[in-house]
Amino acid sequence: MEKSTRVNHPPAVDLAPDNRPLIAPIYQSVKFTFDDSVQTERHLRGVREGFFYSRTANPTLRQLELLLAELQGREDCLLTGSGVAAVAATLLALCKAGDHVLLFAESYGPTRYLVQNLLARYGVEHTMLSIDDPAGIARVLEERPTRLVVFESPTNPVTKIADIERITASARRSGALTVLDNTFAGFHNHGGYPLDVYVHSLTKYASGHGDVMGGAIIAEKRLIAAMRKDVTTLGPTLDPHAAFLIQRGMRTYFLRQERQCANALRIAGFLAAHPQVRRVHYPGLESHPGHELARRQMSDFGAVVSFDLLGGIAEGDRFADALQYFSISASIGSTESLVMPPRLLGGYEVTGALRAATLINPGTVRLSIGIEDVTDLIADLEQALRAAFAV
Ligand SMILES: Cc1ncc(COP(=O)(O)O)c(C=O)c1O
Repeated sequence: MEKSTRVNHPPAVDLAPDNRPLIAPIYQSVKFTFDDSVQTERHLRGVREGFFYSRTANPTLRQLELLLAELQGREDCLLTGSGVAAVAATLLALCKAGDHVLLFAESYGPTRYLVQNLLARYGVEHTMLSIDDPAGIARVLEERPTRLVVFESPTNPVTKIADIERITASARRSGALTVLDNTFAGFHNHGGYPLDVYVHSLTKYASGHGDVMGGAIIAEKRLIAAMRKDVTTLGPTLDPHAAFLIQRGMRTYFLRQERQCANALRIAGFLAAHPQVRRVHYPGLESHPGHELARRQMSDFGAVVSFDLLGGIAEGDRFADALQYFSISASIGSTESLVMPPRLLGGYEVTGALRAATLINPGTVRLSIGIEDVTDLIADLEQALRAAFAV
């Protein structure tokens, strides 16, 4: 063999069946091969399982898909390259022209954009309500044949709690499918409700370390099978190396959740007692309007704490700029704490009667709580609140 051939056919290193790596290797291979074309064709016809091309299936991704499906309490999962890709692919795979989608003013901005702009261009209609309006939800679903109800709980950024039992009951009666973006609550929550599809941004608590993006669509096998061809042909594939990093992040998922939620509860209590804070949005507080619902629906209250400063944009800027341990940053779910001051919080594109339902005002701040020592975080918040009102 000439050397130029050799470098393209390097020596194989095969492990004996009784000598396995403890951590599964990264299958950083786009292509997989069978020994002959007959077996390849059998695979392509769906007669034989296996892997052929990584846009449609890859063993590293499959391991993560099986893990996430099991954690969420469903049969199957499709991974995507980001959380919004999971939302977009779900919407595109489940809707056709003439369908009607019910969505909410409190939903994540890009999800609203996808329904109101992208799906609208393809002839999908929608109604937008507040997640606080279960009677309105029931009425719309009774009056109008609806394909999807797309919602979140807790909502971003003010942590409203959706009444999942009421929403799923109304949807089931009318034949609509429910899609819950479960990113804020996590895989360990909401699995017991009869929801049809869960979507997650893996960029947040799954990866946990702010160094990789990913998304997941989780549902029963039948529904995932119906979506698979559309989703894989749209092509939002997750890279195997990213899947490996997310899988590694998942090893500490429960430890991080436990610490982050405990820190969040302590911080919410501190803020609620602070004279410069008008209102705290955290479902773990008894004063939160969704507290009882959250207790019923969730095993914890999440790690996002929002609050309204007594001041406005200027105080919010001074507060965020003075913080030492909270970085001004998008996203949530990292091990380090993050802050979004009022100047940077979205939601302003919701206009008209539903604007008030977002509860976002010029003093609203969002905190994503990390795993640092909570006494350091509280001391940092205390000095930053002093700095915000020092002039
Ligand atoms: C609730 C929710 N869903 C989806 C996404 C999108 O995830 P990604 O940034 O991984 O695309 C986000 C991101 O902030 C989010 O907060």
